[in-house]
Amino acid sequence: MSKIDFSGRVAIVTGAGAGLGKDYAVELAKRGAKVVVNDLGGTRDGSGSGDTAASQVVDEIKAQGGEAVPNFDSVASAEGGENIVKTALDAYGKIDILINNAGILRDKSFAKMSEQEWDAVLAVHLKGTFNVTKPAFINMKENKYGRILMTSSGSGMFGNFGQANYASAKAGMAGLVNVLKIEGAKYGIKTNMLLPSAGTRMTEDVMPPEMFDKLKVEYITPGVLYLVSEQCQDSGAYINAFAGFFSRSQVMSGPGMMFGDKPTPEMVAENWEKIMSMDNPKYFDDVNQIMFDALQSDVVQKP
Ligand code: NAI
Repeated sequence: MSKIDFSGRVAIVTGAGAGLGKDYAVELAKRGAKVVVNDLGGTRDGSGSGDTAASQVVDEIKAQGGEAVPNFDSVASAEGGENIVKTALDAYGKIDILINNAGILRDKSFAKMSEQEWDAVLAVHLKGTFNVTKPAFINMKENKYGRILMTSSGSGMFGNFGQANYASAKAGMAGLVNVLKIEGAKYGIKTNMLLPSAGTRMTEDVMPPEMFDKLKVEYITPGVLYLVSEQCQDSGAYINAFAGFFSRSQVMSGPGMMFGDKPTPEMVAENWEKIMSMDNPKYFDDVNQIMFDALQSDVVQKP
């Protein structure tokens, strides 16, 4: 098996001053990548800022003989996103790898959630991912090479109490991955999505201690390094990662039922079981495929 090597590659890792992002940055640098270590340096809820977190990670990388530069911008503004990308271009001239990892939490049950709590979380996770990915994607397109990783969450793809803002932002990333998989294809840009679970400051008070200890950050990083490597030829995949376990999640469609041109609510009710059936589910690469399949396929059952 060929070694995963990042010599000559330039990587941006957002929110790399702590937790998962820090481990990705350190391990990428150990394998030869030049890394932009971005971190706003705030608290878990996104308040405050400082340059210590990112600077310390850069010092650590350099002490191990690696190459890295810090960036202290917030991903939450378009200007911040542009600056993060500019830091990479000024220091190293290109971007090969982008790991959108920065994140905050403002948990509240939905009925109690304020507009401010909604907006702050969407701004960092979803808009923040747009803010950095857009300028990075343009550079990758010019170079006809790119590896982009979005950091989603099982909370967004499966649900979790008290995280309506966070889950919505994280599920929104799936939409972006679905489109970039298509728009980046002819430029050699592969975009995938990670659903991690790890013991960090984000989860220290929500996980029982014995679980926290099992979910080590360094168990996630090998999957991340593969996903942003040249070896990875997949695009559009959602990868679960925790405790040394990796798997794929995907939106699949059931066989369905074709009613033709005169469907009635009663026909839908009578055939609800078949409509809901997930027997022999199918994966579709884009929205046109599912319609084409339903209109053409003999598999679609008629009442
Ligand atoms: P963490 O809190 O240890 O690290 C997140 C980092 O992002 C912090 O260093 C923080 O300063 C930085 N950050 C926050 N807002 C920023 C902004 N506007 N601009 C730049 N940097 C900013 O958290 P952790 O656990 O390492 O999380 C990393 C990513 O993984 C996040 O996107 C999180 O939502 C996601 N995730 C983590 C899970 C876990 O179990 N730890 C579960 C699912 C997803």
